[in-house]
Amino acid sequence: MQERIKELVEILNKANIEYHMNDNPFLSDNEYDSLLDELFKLEKQYPEYILPDSPTHKIATEVISEFKKVTHPTPMFSLADVFNEDEVKDFIKKIEKEFPNSEYVCELKMDGLAVSLIYEKGIFKSAATRGDGIIGEDITHNVKTIKTLPLKLNKDVDLEVRGEIYMSKKSFEKVNDARLKDGLKPFQNPRNAAAGSIRQLDSSISRQRDLNIYLYHLPNSELTTHYENMQYIKQLGLPTNPNLTVAKNANEVLDYIDYWTKKRNTLPYEIDGIVIKVNNLAHQAELGSTVKYPKWAIAYKFPAVEVITKLRNITFTVGRTGQITPNAVLDPIKLAGSTVKRATLHNLDNIYHKDLRIGDYVYLRKAGDVIPEVVAPVIERRNGTEKILKMIENCPICHTKLIKSESQIDFLCPNVNCPARNIESLIHFTSRDAMNIEGLGEKILEDFYNIGIIKNITDIYNLYSKKDELIELEGFGNKSVQNLLRSIENSKHNSLERLLNALGIPGIGIKNARILAKRYENIDSLMNASVEELNKIDDIGPILANNISNFFDNPTNRIIIHTLKEIGVNMTYLGQKSLHNEYFSHKKFVITGTLSFIKRDQLKELLEKYDAKTSNSVSKNTDVVIVGADPGSKYEKALELNIEIWDEQKLKEILDSL
Ligand code: IVH
Repeated sequence: MQERIKELVEILNKANIEYHMNDNPFLSDNEYDSLLDELFKLEKQYPEYILPDSPTHKIATEVISEFKKVTHPTPMFSLADVFNEDEVKDFIKKIEKEFPNSEYVCELKMDGLAVSLIYEKGIFKSAATRGDGIIGEDITHNVKTIKTLPLKLNKDVDLEVRGEIYMSKKSFEKVNDARLKDGLKPFQNPRNAAAGSIRQLDSSISRQRDLNIYLYHLPNSELTTHYENMQYIKQLGLPTNPNLTVAKNANEVLDYIDYWTKKRNTLPYEIDGIVIKVNNLAHQAELGSTVKYPKWAIAYKFPAVEVITKLRNITFTVGRTGQITPNAVLDPIKLAGSTVKRATLHNLDNIYHKDLRIGDYVYLRKAGDVIPEVVAPVIERRNGTEKILKMIENCPICHTKLIKSESQIDFLCPNVNCPARNIESLIHFTSRDAMNIEGLGEKILEDFYNIGIIKNITDIYNLYSKKDELIELEGFGNKSVQNLLRSIENSKHNSLERLLNALGIPGIGIKNARILAKRYENIDSLMNASVEELNKIDDIGPILANNISNFFDNPTNRIIIHTLKEIGVNMTYLGQKSLHNEYFSHKKFVITGTLSFIKRDQLKELLEKYDAKTSNSVSKNTDVVIVGADPGSKYEKALELNIEIWDEQKLKEILDSL
């Protein structure tokens, strides 16, 4: 029986691949169904023989109660965008300066959602979304349903591999037809449809949606080029996009871009650009990355789509710091796959500079994912009825007289009790990079604020006492209230950086919040830090140091923090604590040449643990240059600037002494 089960799994998996990946069905639907049925029955009878790669796992429905958060073993980067050929050439020039005659792998930029997969000993274990790049959400149950994704690799390897989940144009149409029939709103584009399908608790939905996947990145590879990585991914049996090419210079890269700009419509799926990656993995490592993007790759985005629509009105919104933003109210129009009704106009200068008038026809542009932009008025379509905007003098919400910001560009509502400011602060507090409270979206917070259920952030933690009242509200039920209260409760255990971001200290977003949380470890030490001390921290500087100090000196803020503490909101840093060492901590390092006993990435990671910084270029601010075999010009620069140099011997001694 065990043998037969094995045989059935093999035949059915092969049939699946031939059918879905190679367009080469060798079993009829009937044959396939009857073999699958046989396998089902045998597995039921002999559950001890169920194989990890059995196709029945793809069919079994799994319903989870929430998306678990997962920390990516290696952070998931996004890519820096470029929008024209010159920027592509600049990128290549920059690379060539450091590594002349480099090769570049050009790939299609799939318009889907990024996913990270984990295989253990060749068996599919889990899948997670990108999330904020550090922490994503577990979507294993849904990814398992993707027909072209093998549950078992051709080798028993441990692997972290990244790629894109996407929906073909054909499946997208099918899904939308069905939605229209059921009286549901159609998805705007295949990417939204794919994302909506993956964000389902019930895996039977994503199975019906017919999702697909291409893998394109191996974060921890022992090979020497990205091209070899891609061959390896393919050999393992994972689906890869066949349309990749290795280009030897800028011209070949531009040819590839040109070819696919013309041909993209012939593809069965949507792409939104071209990805260009340095082929040599050692060079990739040396180029490194910024906080968000690798420096060894870029995404060329296809040219923006432009349409004309009418600017009906200009309205104003109030941000959490009181900033007044003008917004265009537009005649709804389809643009690059979504319907646009509004667009930010940023500030008054922008409106007057572009000479936008109410009633104008305007050019509206969108480049890929970028938010729609009102480019300019269509002057020749003016008929004299267009009106120049007269700036409002009072806050549109609380009617307080507006003042000018320090920069003189923006207008501000100075009323700290302005409802709009308060609502925006609440929205910020609960948002994904802040306290990450699910179920308290913008609309709900606005409603709760207006009916008086939540007036300030501490009220959020008092919601449980209003449970009965909540259940009675329209759109709420027992279950959603329970989920909401659980999410609020969970947020009490967030690490300090989320709270610091959530508090809305001007200029302190999640990145700076992380730096502060790591450094001070608890809120009291941060509150006791002097401006001078804060000012000395890299990345903080005098303005932010003042903002932080002013924020914590403000009695209202102190009361809020005190109350949150009493409620049980965690105020300590829970992430990896940084270590301290006189050789490393708070110093700036540059690494050059090949290191023989430690990988460059490992060394960088280690240095970061000690709160040291690494950079790619030597300057007078560099503290130490670590020099391996065959160092480049950085070594000479270090000598020239008289910067401390460690050779491998010295590095090894220090590391051994840790
Ligand atoms: S490589 C560290 N290759 O585009 C490098 N990304 O705008 C990781 N994408 O987050 C990305 N096709 O979701 C890479 N062939 C491709 C891609 C691709 C689509 C997506 C990916 C990424 C986003 C960046």
